[in-house]
Amino acid sequence: MSLLRFGSVLLLFGCSLGAPRSFSVDYKNDCFQKDGEEFRYISGSIHYSRIPRVYWKDRLLKMYMAGLNTIQTYIPWNFHEESPGLYNFSGDRDLEYFLQVAQDVGLLVILRPGPYICAEWDMGGLPAWLLNKKDIVLRSSDPDYLAAVDKWMGKLLPMMKPYLYQNGGPIITVQVENEYGSYFACDYNYLRHLSKLLRSHLGNDVVLFTTDGAGIGYLKCGSIQDVYATVDFGPGGNVTAAFEAQRYAEPHGPLVNSEFYTGWLDHWGSPHSVVSSAIVAKSLNEMLAMGANVNMYMFIGGTNFGYWNGANAPYGAQPTSYDYDAPLTEAGDLTEKYFAIREVIRMYHKIPEGPVPPTTPKYAYGTVVMKKLQTISDALEKLSFSGPVKSAYPQTFIELNQAFGFVLYRTALPVDCSAPTPLSSPLNGVRDRAYVSVNGVAVGILERDKAITVNVTGKAGSQVDILVESMGRINYGHNINDFKGLVTNMTLGNETLKGWTMYSLNIDEAIRQGLLSETKPTASPQPAALSPPTFYKGSFIIPDCIPDLPQDTYIQLPKWRKGQIWINGFNLGRYWPSRGPQVTLFVPANILSTAAPNNVTVLELEEAPCSSGPCSVVFTATPILNATVQSDHKQHGRLFVRDGFL
Ligand SMILES: *[C@@H]1O[C@H](CO)[C@@H](O)[C@H](O)[C@H]1NC(C)=O
Ligand SMILES: *[C@@H]1O[C@H](CO)[C@@H](O)[C@H](O)[C@H]1NC(C)=O
Ligand SMILES: *[C@@H]1O[C@H](CO)[C@@H](O)[C@H](O)[C@H]1NC(C)=O
Ligand SMILES: *[C@@H]1O[C@H](CO)[C@@H](O)[C@H](O)[C@H]1NC(C)=O
Ligand SMILES: *[C@@H]1O[C@H](CO)[C@@H](O)[C@H](O)[C@H]1NC(C)=O
Ligand SMILES: *[C@@H]1O[C@H](CO)[C@@H](O)[C@H](O)[C@H]1NC(C)=O
Ligand SMILES: *[C@@H]1O[C@H](CO)[C@@H](O)[C@H](O)[C@H]1NC(C)=O
Repeated sequence: MSLLRFGSVLLLFGCSLGAPRSFSVDYKNDCFQKDGEEFRYISGSIHYSRIPRVYWKDRLLKMYMAGLNTIQTYIPWNFHEESPGLYNFSGDRDLEYFLQVAQDVGLLVILRPGPYICAEWDMGGLPAWLLNKKDIVLRSSDPDYLAAVDKWMGKLLPMMKPYLYQNGGPIITVQVENEYGSYFACDYNYLRHLSKLLRSHLGNDVVLFTTDGAGIGYLKCGSIQDVYATVDFGPGGNVTAAFEAQRYAEPHGPLVNSEFYTGWLDHWGSPHSVVSSAIVAKSLNEMLAMGANVNMYMFIGGTNFGYWNGANAPYGAQPTSYDYDAPLTEAGDLTEKYFAIREVIRMYHKIPEGPVPPTTPKYAYGTVVMKKLQTISDALEKLSFSGPVKSAYPQTFIELNQAFGFVLYRTALPVDCSAPTPLSSPLNGVRDRAYVSVNGVAVGILERDKAITVNVTGKAGSQVDILVESMGRINYGHNINDFKGLVTNMTLGNETLKGWTMYSLNIDEAIRQGLLSETKPTASPQPAALSPPTFYKGSFIIPDCIPDLPQDTYIQLPKWRKGQIWINGFNLGRYWPSRGPQVTLFVPANILSTAAPNNVTVLELEEAPCSSGPCSVVFTATPILNATVQSDHKQHGRLFVRDGFL
């Protein structure tokens, strides 16, 4: 930092350190100019928010060794400002350190600070607390939205300024918004506001750009004057035709594909996406032969740890793995696609000499027996630090001041239900999945867009517990104002249910503090089809007779159904092998310990395989991301190769 500042001070006073560093668009020669010379970038996307800090250098070095001269990264606003005005840029969120490592490795940086980023990330990177204003129009000139954006950018951009190329850092270009032309609002004042904001903080020298689908229809609302328009498209199509769309907006200047898809995203309940290396290599070759600038999205996908995954509409959440079938796997492993891409790049650029860093070894720690702890309902006082909130009708997560995870909604049956009586969310207001029990007995599951009714029986006054899980906010399209919880009334028969007690749950904190206790095993429990959401715990010791441990591993939960996993208090993410396609979760070595037993905590939401004898989880050395899925016929998300030309 101080060295960088020193450098720019020297330049300011005109000391002769050679020509000043500069980066610009060359409209005459249809290329970029770096330090007065023609420049073309070959870049790859890597999201620091999806990779543990200890692995940033390894992944960046592998990218450099593939022949890339640049990387591209998103900045997820909600990752850095989880509560208004409380910023976190430390540990795995240390953006400045990430930029510094990229520069040390020899890579330039394309920065995509949003504020909206899509990225298959919760709410497209926007903080959920923006929804405190119920009718806020996100990604528009809505004054409350702009005020929050201005404040955030006022914190972020001064931090980024020393890292601009002209100031001695690695950042060559900065993106304004993200695929704005695909959003309904088409608010030019908003885009102009953003570009002014970026320039006011970063200066007039910075190259700003927009990215949109390769179709004139997208570019209409996505591009603005004085911000360089680029396009994005996947392999397998007509590259010349796709760049013609960019030429519609930019008759001159460099050709840029800001997101060339090396793979594609997954959804729970849909088959794993796979894209062949051959088709990626072919289109990459065509673009490089045209002299185009290319960013490969993703070069490494990484992991949606914790609750960070996003979703698409109709509601389909993305799994924990963001492997993306990218040239480096979720765990940073080299693939055949990596080497295929490297061979293409080699035809145009010199590849750095020396060995490619090897794939990190994985270790199969084996089986860990799990013991049953309390159910959510039994542990409420430990899980709800703020205590219950009472109201006539249900409140949303945001009204309860909770961003992620789970909220328990409790009420009582107002009448005797001797015959099965429908308990419903008639307006499809369960966001996103609810686990219903009556007097502690699980009776069914409600799911957004899929199941709005369960039948219940019981005497008047019976306790009804509805644990509602947010499975990730929608990150694309019209529906990004994605409120969570019970967002409409529940009915029993014809009656609207009233008299709710709601428990905002901080499960992560309770697990970190080790607050959950064991329960006595009940006598000869019947194997149930469904149980109330319950915690389980196990531990394992890493053998000290084997060198180089701990190593990375994968956790697999045979016959478990759906839930969340923590290892040593680190929230690893969601598992849902009963729906697929993801079956194993990546466990990075840095969360494991050789000094103490490693603690695995599982919250199983449906039914653990533990009713008959012991139950276990398994640590294996091989990932499974492509298991057959429980069929889900709905189409999800964007088209792989955009149809363009509206
Ligand atoms: C900031 O983020 C890091 C990395 O996720 C985390 O370890 C740390 O606890 C956070 N700090 C605060 C104050 O929340
Ligand atoms: C690709 O698109 C260009 C421009 O639209 C067109 O001239 C060319 O024929 C197309 N190539 C193929 C193989 O369709
Ligand atoms: C509820 O019970 C009724 C009557 O027994 C039955 O027709 C209906 O299919 C059940 N609904 C569900 C969601 O199980
Ligand atoms: C629930 O029903 C009550 C009474 O009809 C109504 O006032 C309230 O607005 C409803 N809540 C929601 C979220 O629809
Ligand atoms: C709902 O109301 C209708 C008419 O008021 C009545 O016929 C029906 O039995 C009621 N259904 C339930 C489940 O209470
Ligand atoms: C696991 O839990 C035990 C018991 O609470 C504790 O002593 C140990 O330090 C924990 N292990 C780690 C790696 O935190
Ligand atoms: C899943 O991926 C593995 C590893 O790439 C591959 O060997 C296997 O054939 C795939 N299985 C299915 C069902 O596609």
